Amino acid sequence: MCGIVGYAGTKGAKDVIYSGLKQLEYRGYDSAGVLVVEDGKIHIDKEVGTVNKVDITSLPGTSGLGIGHTRWATHGGVTKDNAHPHTYGNVSLVHNGIIENYEDLKNRYELTTVSETDSEVLAGVIDYKMTTDNYSLREATVRALSECQGTYGVLAVAPAKEPGTLVAARSGSPIVIGVGADKEYIIASDPSAILTTNKMVFLSDGEIAEFKNGTMQVYDFASKPKDITEETVETEKSSDDLKGFDTYMHKEIFEQPDTLKETMRGRILSEGKFNLGGPNLTNEQIKSLKSIFIIGCGTAFYAGQSVKYALEELLDIPVVVEYASEFRYRHAALEADNSVAIFMSQSGETADTLAAESEARRRGMPTMGIVNSVGSTLARSVSHGGIYLHAGIEKSVASTKAYSSMVVALLMFGGFLAEKRGLPLSDVRQLGTDLLDTPREIASMLESFEDIMTVASEVSGFSNCFVLGRDTLYPVALEGALKITEVSYMHAQALPTGEMKHGPIALIDENHLSIVLMPEDKLMYEKTCSGIQEIRARNGKVLTVGSRPAKGGLSDWHIPTPMTGKNISGLVINCALQQLAYGIANSLGRNIDRPRNLAKSVTVE
Ligand code: F6R
Repeated sequence: MCGIVGYAGTKGAKDVIYSGLKQLEYRGYDSAGVLVVEDGKIHIDKEVGTVNKVDITSLPGTSGLGIGHTRWATHGGVTKDNAHPHTYGNVSLVHNGIIENYEDLKNRYELTTVSETDSEVLAGVIDYKMTTDNYSLREATVRALSECQGTYGVLAVAPAKEPGTLVAARSGSPIVIGVGADKEYIIASDPSAILTTNKMVFLSDGEIAEFKNGTMQVYDFASKPKDITEETVETEKSSDDLKGFDTYMHKEIFEQPDTLKETMRGRILSEGKFNLGGPNLTNEQIKSLKSIFIIGCGTAFYAGQSVKYALEELLDIPVVVEYASEFRYRHAALEADNSVAIFMSQSGETADTLAAESEARRRGMPTMGIVNSVGSTLARSVSHGGIYLHAGIEKSVASTKAYSSMVVALLMFGGFLAEKRGLPLSDVRQLGTDLLDTPREIASMLESFEDIMTVASEVSGFSNCFVLGRDTLYPVALEGALKITEVSYMHAQALPTGEMKHGPIALIDENHLSIVLMPEDKLMYEKTCSGIQEIRARNGKVLTVGSRPAKGGLSDWHIPTPMTGKNISGLVINCALQQLAYGIANSLGRNIDRPRNLAKSVTVE
């Protein structure tokens, strides 16, 4: 989603900003812009499309002050006028987040704006405070922001009045400052955009940093100077190398045997014993746990769902999985005693997840993170540590390797808790050794890639499908349906296999595809075959995925998966569905890594 990069220093601002914006590209955006300040004037280029389209050669190279942005449209369509930076009067800014009361502010200050954005209104209010009330850029920004409702990470300059000043303020949208050598500061919404230093300062909500004459000072919104703490952050830089694959989704699906090993490295010992250093729960807290909440959005939510059953069986306590956007309003759940809330996120920057975590923490719940992005806001906010996935940067908008690592990380956490709670060691060791097998099983599933591509091309003509799963395979069906929908635009609806006859079966005819996930368990298998009979009796088409096809030759297509046992069969079937989704999208010629309307990191609520 939206990304911010700014620079205050002595080198060419435009190059630093441009390379920082390139690092943020994978998060998804639809327009980009760079503005530099020289001789008290702004020089700007902004364009619809990719960062490459911004012509930085048209900007002066000697400027040491500038701001840049990648925009994912929220208020107003994808147009050049709506792209950032925005200028109103003397003030130019870039903004992440949403100013909810922008229409009131626009009317109150009688602003005439060029764009349809809330951000230009914010520039107008800051300009008003500078021009009419004579405040400095910093004071005007604080005063304007204190009238705003919503979230923001904002960088602003006002060269005609304060030629050498840049301010950066934060409430709800992250701002991190890279402190380089020679009085150089790189300000960004994500540490990965800071390429030249690993010394960083993270602004907290309600803080504003002022950069002028080679200095940085952080203030609270009451203008009280704050001490700053520099941290060393080792971020991973994104690379454009597709390593011979045609898309990042394809590459990341195939990386899973390696990324799973990284997630487990040093955390499961060879005899299946769990060794986790990240969770900061005392033995007392672990022993007295009465329930676990798992919270996330989209694929992260489904990763939680798919582990719920196994955790409940292993720990014998309820495991509640909630959408982050809903959890924050579930006041009774937020006050559950003897509970822990685990927040799952690839990016660690998803606004809904951050808001839910902050509400849970505010109400005194211990919060933990299962996060891929090192140093991200979620990883830094949780109260009781967590687990990094170590899956490496995921660039495809559709999440694949982060999903499998989340499932494994959660199962490891379950094994770790079970061990500490003194639960039957044989089950815990079995889980550990099964998990250590996942890279091999996933590698074996990837060997069917060409066969899956053939099936994918044959089913790509359907416009609608069900993805049906029973018991532990229902959450796998949910994730499979999401993957198919987002990359191929085929409408896919996941259902528990047994629910189909309670209504959705009305959709079945010869033009409707049902993708049925076949359980290994004998009883479940029989029940699933009965469901398939019901579909075939209505001329519906059936693609089965699992270790066995439907009985009696009822599958029109079948994707065989290895027989693995209940702890990891869902992961293996998921890997087949990831390939199927990729294959359908490929057959339909979709833009697989940048599906329409989607962003990698959803930083607005
Ligand atoms: C689906 C997908 C999204 C994300 C969701 C949460 O493929 O990528 O559904 O899973 O937006 O993102 P994170 O995990 O970054 O919090």
